[in-house]
Amino acid sequence: MDTEANGSAAAPAAEILWQLNAHMHQVAILRAALELEVWAKVAAGEDSVEQLSATEHWDPLGTRMLLDDLCSLKLLAREGDEYRLVPEAEHYLLPDKPTYMGKFLLSDSSWEGNNHLAEAIRTGNHPIGYSATATEAIDIWIGMYSRNWAAPETYLKKCDAMWHALGIHGRDGLRILDLACGPAPKSLALALANAGVRVTLIDWERILQVARKVTVDLGVDNQMTSLSGDLASVAYGRSQYDVAFLGDVTHFLSPEQNIRIFRKAYDALVDGGTLVVNAVRGEYLDPTEHGLWFYAISAGAAYNFQEYKDMLERARFTDIVDTNITDLRIQPIKATKRSQHTRGQQ
Ligand SMILES: C[S@@+](CC[C@H](N)C(=O)[O-])C[C@H]1O[C@@H](n2cnc3c(N)ncnc32)[C@H](O)[C@@H]1O
Repeated sequence: MDTEANGSAAAPAAEILWQLNAHMHQVAILRAALELEVWAKVAAGEDSVEQLSATEHWDPLGTRMLLDDLCSLKLLAREGDEYRLVPEAEHYLLPDKPTYMGKFLLSDSSWEGNNHLAEAIRTGNHPIGYSATATEAIDIWIGMYSRNWAAPETYLKKCDAMWHALGIHGRDGLRILDLACGPAPKSLALALANAGVRVTLIDWERILQVARKVTVDLGVDNQMTSLSGDLASVAYGRSQYDVAFLGDVTHFLSPEQNIRIFRKAYDALVDGGTLVVNAVRGEYLDPTEHGLWFYAISAGAAYNFQEYKDMLERARFTDIVDTNITDLRIQPIKATKRSQHTRGQQ
């Protein structure tokens, strides 16, 4: 018998495709549940198919399928006819909680511009869906970092380890510029390490409002100042900072945009100051980080060390050092500002 022709023994299992197919189903279920705000309704007491479909005028059969599918995804639990929230849903899926992740998940689920990814690759027209460096992404960042905002102490240890590995320590008078700071975990860690550290945060105003709340909760608000607005246009000042930090933002910017920001950071640093660039790196992309996501939502990419080195050199930085902090799975790059004057003295 010709096994190739009838496709039995020689055919590889299609497991990987079935797994992807299952993921596609799961995403669709999550999306529908977020749009319908199922968890808020269950929390409000509409906790059975009958109650939900009667109160919301939803189709009873579709409602039952959705609730049961959410149970199988472990995003809801069922006891008899009643459904209840699991702890993850309590924390992250109730819209009135500051830790709500639903807006972020819904927005990011259309990262590929609702089926425009192939077209973007054909034409080179990107970003699609949304742009990671525009104000439209603010809710995405707020949602993505909701656990950081709510429980910054869970991240601070990791941040300490990064500074330690880079040889940068909190000391009296150390001035840090945290560019595109988000919840600012890295600079907050240095501020907590020493009350004499001074931090300037830059991000969009709505992000800064949340970051300021975190600094108050941690008791370091008197060490912080902030400048709101677009990273590309805010004035950073001249020769004012010992350390400038760019965390997880340069992979969303084109090489030209990065060079412009590196130049501004160079001017803002004191002579001998350090720029730290921590980003998703091409050499280390892990399977949960898809390079195409950067392409779809930005003008950037997961650049490799050599690409960063070229950009940093074009911004006049020297002593460009790669690190790989394996415990934290991050690869920050360190670069130094040396003016012509001190370079001449070397
Ligand atoms: C992935 S988060 C990184 C947060 C933080 N730096 C960290 O290392 O965890 C990206 C941050 O960059 C900010 N951002 C992106 N584009 C920006 C722009 N054009 N101007 C100001 N902030 C921007 C976002 O608001 C967000 O807080």
